[in-house]
Formats: sequence, structure tokens, C-alpha cells
Amino acid sequence: MNRTLVICKPDAVERGLTGVIISRLENKGLRIVAAELRVIEPDLAERHYDEHRSRPFFDSLVKFISRSPSLVMVVEGPEDTWRIVRTLMGATNPADAAPGTIRGDLATETSENLVHGSDGAASARREIDLFFPNIT
Ligand code: RTP
Ligand code: MG
Repeated sequence: MNRTLVICKPDAVERGLTGVIISRLENKGLRIVAAELRVIEPDLAERHYDEHRSRPFFDSLVKFISRSPSLVMVVEGPEDTWRIVRTLMGATNPADAAPGTIRGDLATETSENLVHGSDGAASARREIDLFFPNIT
């Protein structure tokens, strides 16, 4: 089995959409193997989004992701689970996200796009280690 990190971002928790998002993952056939509702403090948010450190939106991204609790999850499925999750999520900008995807159906703004999913096998491993260092 293969694992990836998924975050229901603060906007998803605030809007009461965590259940809908989890249902979509589970209906697809994926399984939640760890979950924690927590505020992602700025220091951890910066490490999580390290690849975007030099981007103009970095500060607002860190501020957004740390503004209220997120639901951080490890999701398990077959090979390339990260890719299955990314397909369910839809494009980064909800205006480009296809209908039927989480972002396509439920969001309008790039800055409040509801979910994070690791973008590859290596980032999945790195991000699971970052948020769930004791997971077996
Ligand atoms: P995520 O990491 O949150 O799963 O989103 P993603 O892979 O689809 O997009 P990524 O390129 O990794 O960007 C991370 C988050 O930064 C915000 N963003 N804003 N203003 C902009 O041009 C811009 N680009 C990205 C989005 O909130 C995106 O989810
Ligand atoms: Mg990303």
C-alpha cells in the first residue's frame, strides 16, 4: 500500500466541508490511516511549503494555513495514491478545476482552495514525516 498527506485547510474546516472531503476520498476507495485536527503554526507551515519560499504569495499562504485548525491526514491506497488524490482535488486555481473535483465543485479562490495533497512520492514521504513523525 501507498500513502500520501492530505490537509483539509482552514477554509474547509471553517466551512464545515471536512466530512464532504473525507467522503470523496473514502468513496474513491482510499482509507484514512491517521488524522489530527490542529493549528499548523507558521514555523511548520513554512517548512511544509518550503518550495514556495521565494514566491510572492508565500507570506499570505503561511498566514492563511495557520489562521485556524486544519485537518491533517495520512491517506492510504494503491500505487501512486498521491496522484489519485491530486486528481480528486482538481487544479490549484478553482476557476480551472474541473466539475466533479473538490476544488471545481466547492471553491472559487486560489488562496482558499480547501485541500492540500502531496505532489509526488518524495514529497508524500517528506510531508508525512513532517506531520506524523511517529507513524508506523
Ligand atoms: P497545495 O500545495 O496546497 O496542495 O496546492 P497545489 O499543489 O495545487 O499548488 P502549489 O503550486 O503547491 O501552491 C501552494 C498553494 O499556494 C497558493 N498559491 N497561490 N497566487 C498564486 O499564484 C498562487 N499560487 C499558488 C495556493 O493556495 C496553493 O494551493
Ligand atoms: Mg503543492
